[in-house]
Amino acid sequence: GGISTLDSGFKNTGSCESAITFLDGEKGILRYRGYSIEELAEKADFLEVAFLLIFGELPTKEQRDKFHADIKAQSVVDEDIKRILEAFPKSAHPMGVLSSLTSALTAFNPSSVNVNSEEDMYKAIVKIMGKFPVLVAWTHRRKQGLPLDYGDKNLGYVENVLKMMFRQPNEEYIQNKVLVDALDKLLILHADHEQNCSTSTVRIVGSSHAGLFASISAGISALWGPLHGGANQAVLEMLEAIKIDGGDTKKYMAKAKDKDDPFRLMGFGHRVYKNFDPRARIIKKAADEVLEDLGIEDPILDIAKGLEQEALKDSYFVDRKLYPNVDFYSGIIYRGMGIPTDMFTVMFALGRLPGWIAQWKEMRLNKEPIGRPRQLYVGATKRTFVEIDKR
Ligand code: CMC
Repeated sequence: GGISTLDSGFKNTGSCESAITFLDGEKGILRYRGYSIEELAEKADFLEVAFLLIFGELPTKEQRDKFHADIKAQSVVDEDIKRILEAFPKSAHPMGVLSSLTSALTAFNPSSVNVNSEEDMYKAIVKIMGKFPVLVAWTHRRKQGLPLDYGDKNLGYVENVLKMMFRQPNEEYIQNKVLVDALDKLLILHADHEQNCSTSTVRIVGSSHAGLFASISAGISALWGPLHGGANQAVLEMLEAIKIDGGDTKKYMAKAKDKDDPFRLMGFGHRVYKNFDPRARIIKKAADEVLEDLGIEDPILDIAKGLEQEALKDSYFVDRKLYPNVDFYSGIIYRGMGIPTDMFTVMFALGRLPGWIAQWKEMRLNKEPIGRPRQLYVGATKRTFVEIDKR
C-alpha cells in the first residue's frame, strides 16, 4: 500500500540504530562512542579518534601503532591515478576531483568491493585511510602546479598530510607544531556527526552493497553542497564579500532576513543544534589561538565576530534558534594555515572520513536492509498514450 505521512528532509525520521555518535541538539552535547567532543579535541589525536569511531574503543598504544602501520603500508596510490587527475582542468573544483578519484580507486583495488568478513572490511578501511590523504594532497598540488609525490612514513598521520600538501621542491620542509595541532583538532571535530546528509548518503549507497570507496565517493559529493560541508567555503566567500563591501555587516544581516532574498547567513543555523554548536565553541577558541601563534591579524575574523554578535541579539536569528555552526570559524583557521578557500570542504572530507567508514561498517555488520524510502505520488492519474504525430 501507499504511505499516509511525509517527512520532507527526514526532520523526524530515524533511519537506523547507531552506537557511534550521540548528539543532543537542545543541550549542545556531542559525544563519539560516549566520550565528549571537548575532551577528545583536547586530549586525543585524530588517529585515535578514527580508531575509536571505527572500532568502538580507544586504542591501546599497540593497537594505535598497528593501525597506523597498516595505514602507512597502504599509503601509495596507483601511478595511473595521476593521469586521471591530470586530465581534469586545473580550474576544476577540488571536491569534484576528489570524489572522482575516490571512485576511481575502486578500479585499482577491486578486492575492496566484495567485503563479506571483518577481515576484508579491515583491509578496505586501512586502504582508504592510507590513500585518501594522498588524493587530498594531490588535488591541492595539481592546482598549485606542484609535483605529485608521496608522504613520509616517519611522520604522524596529520603531520604527513600537511607535508604532502605543502612541501616545496628542493626545499626542506619545516613542520609547524601549531599548524599540526590545529589541523588535528579540526579533523577530530569534523570526524562524525551521526546521520547528516553525507553520512546518510554513505549508508544508503553502501546498503546496496556497493563498495566502501564508491560509498565514500557519494558521501563526498553530498558534502560538497553549500548547505552541508560546502558552507565552510561559502562562509569565507561571504566574509570576503562583506569586507570588500566596506565591512557593512548590517546590510548582510538584512539580506539574510529578507524572505525575498535567497541569501542566507552562511555558517549559521543547524538542523539539530538549537542552542549552540559545541564544535563552534571549540573552533572559535582555536581560531583565536592559531592566528595569535602565527602572528596573523585577519580583518575577516573581526567581521566574523561582528556578525556573530549582531546575530546573537537579533530577534530573527534568536527566534529561529540560529547560532554559528562548525563552519563559521573553521575557514578562518584553514585560511591562516595557507589552505586555499576551495580546499576547505576537502579538509572537512578528510576529517569526516573515519565517521563515514564507521557508519558504513556499522550498517553492514548490522545487516541493514537496502535503503529505499517511499513517496507520496502527486502526479497525473491514468492516461492513454497518444502517438507522436497526434500530439
Ligand atoms: N540565514 C538566514 N535564515 C536562515 C538560516 C541562515 N543561515 N538558516 C535557517 N534560516 C531560516 C530559514 O529561512 C527558516 O525561516 P522561516 O521559518 O521563516 O522559513 C528557518 O530559519 C528554519 O530554516 P530551515 O531551512 O527550515 O532549517 P533546516 O534545518 O532545514 O536547515 C541548515 C538547516 C543548516 C541547512 C540552514 O540553517 C542553512 O542553510 N544554514 C546555512 C548553511 C550552513 O551554514 N550549513 C552548514 C551546516 S553545519 C555543517 C554541516 O554539518 O554540514
